[in-house]
Amino acid sequence: MTTTGLFVSLEGGDGAGKSTQAAMLRDWLEEAGREVVLTREPGGTELGRLLRDAVLHGDHVDPRTEALLYATDRAHHVASLVRPALERGAVVVTDRYLDSSVAYQGSGRDLGADEVEALSMWATQGLLPALTVLLDLDPVVGRSRLTGDLDRLESAGDEFHARTRQAFLDRAAADEDRWLVLDATAPADQLAAAIRGRVAGLLTGASA
Ligand code: TYD
Repeated sequence: MTTTGLFVSLEGGDGAGKSTQAAMLRDWLEEAGREVVLTREPGGTELGRLLRDAVLHGDHVDPRTEALLYATDRAHHVASLVRPALERGAVVVTDRYLDSSVAYQGSGRDLGADEVEALSMWATQGLLPALTVLLDLDPVVGRSRLTGDLDRLESAGDEFHARTRQAFLDRAAADEDRWLVLDATAPADQLAAAIRGRVAGLLTGASA
């Protein structure tokens, strides 16, 4: 089997089932003998967990500060965890990545998709996933799936979340090679099979 690493991100609204799919993908890859690093943004590292707490549960922060906090988390995540794992040949599966910033801060907070993308590209030295899976879900349905107190982003309101969803869909439509868009209301097993299909193709391609 190939020793080339593979970078996969899962995107979508809250309650879309990203962490379930990330775990199912990890189990399948591990059974096939791959090293898998399952991680998340924000909060995939020790510093990231501090930043996550600040951005989701701290006092109000203005949109630019919010964008910079996510970008800081991402820069450290990529430098300290994602790149080293890819370099030793692991499959890295991240629950959210740069496209969340473009959708939430760029469109949701209205900072502008291009500027927010450029910030994250600088932060990560241009690292993009080979595959980004969008679990698309009506945000009203997503919210009804959430339990516990809502964090700052989850409580941002219906229009914010509608803009965010549309931004993900537009971004996916503009780059079909990188994206796989799935209807998150489909059964988990069906979603997992579709994701496995795309990942299997990439692993075969990488070893060719
Ligand atoms: P997440 O960890 O998916 O939430 P939870 O653990 O509550 O399911 O993400 C936390 C929130 O952060 C989510 O509402 C989306 C938001 N977010 C951004 O606004 N920008 C970003 O760049 C990222 C990575 C997340």
